[in-house]
Amino acid sequence: MIIAGNWKMNTTPSDAGSLALTIAAADAVGPFTRNGGVVVICPPYLSVPVVAARLQPTSVLVGGQNCHWEAAGAFTGEVSASMLADVGCRYVILGHSERRRDQLEDDHMIGLKAVAAIGAGLTPIICVGESLAEREAGVTVDVVTQQIDGVVAAAGADTIRRSILAYEPIWAIGTGLAATPQQAQEVHAAVRSHCRSRHGIDVPILYGGSVTDQNADELFAQADVNGALVGGASLKAAAFNEIIRAATPHV
Ligand code: PGA
Repeated sequence: MIIAGNWKMNTTPSDAGSLALTIAAADAVGPFTRNGGVVVICPPYLSVPVVAARLQPTSVLVGGQNCHWEAAGAFTGEVSASMLADVGCRYVILGHSERRRDQLEDDHMIGLKAVAAIGAGLTPIICVGESLAEREAGVTVDVVTQQIDGVVAAAGADTIRRSILAYEPIWAIGTGLAATPQQAQEVHAAVRSHCRSRHGIDVPILYGGSVTDQNADELFAQADVNGALVGGASLKAAAFNEIIRAATPHV
């Protein structure tokens, strides 16, 4: 099980370190990580160095929220995978729906970013998910598997074999309306079977979208849910701790 916290554009470097430490010191973290569970915090770029330094003596790992596909060069405002690795990141979230929407990232770009991430020693957490209109039209699995196929076409199956997928229905992100455990399981099972049969890969699949301490238990009880990508609740140390506790029996 992998529990990743996506802090999005929240926390300043002045307050990120103490939040990270509070999260790492919470009582569910030790039993979870000692048994093989992985906890990752993904702060904004500017807060990564302070969070990485504070978490270094703990069992909680650090990730970025994005990276560029090139290692260096004339890309104003961008950050490379090797820069993230250099300041202590082990993971990087790629293709979050907020970036697909606002920075117009597509599957090809996300695939190239995954190659760069793997090259820098980072594990990509690649996000896929459908809109409400797509769910209502009954094309959820088509949309999600096409996203995966597009990423694999750009990155190659070997890169995605070393990655993690996150199924994040867009309508569930930040809305308080999480997918039901049945809805999540149905998509996760379809994604797993598609990845196996089409690409010969079997990777962990996280669920993301309004995961809280109230619904984590039921989501983690699903056979194909291998953890969570948590936004809002990862900024609340107590709630995040309860989510980690809910994942512990499934490690
Ligand atoms: P949320 O965000 O938990 O606040 O819905 C999840 C995500 O966007 O990764």
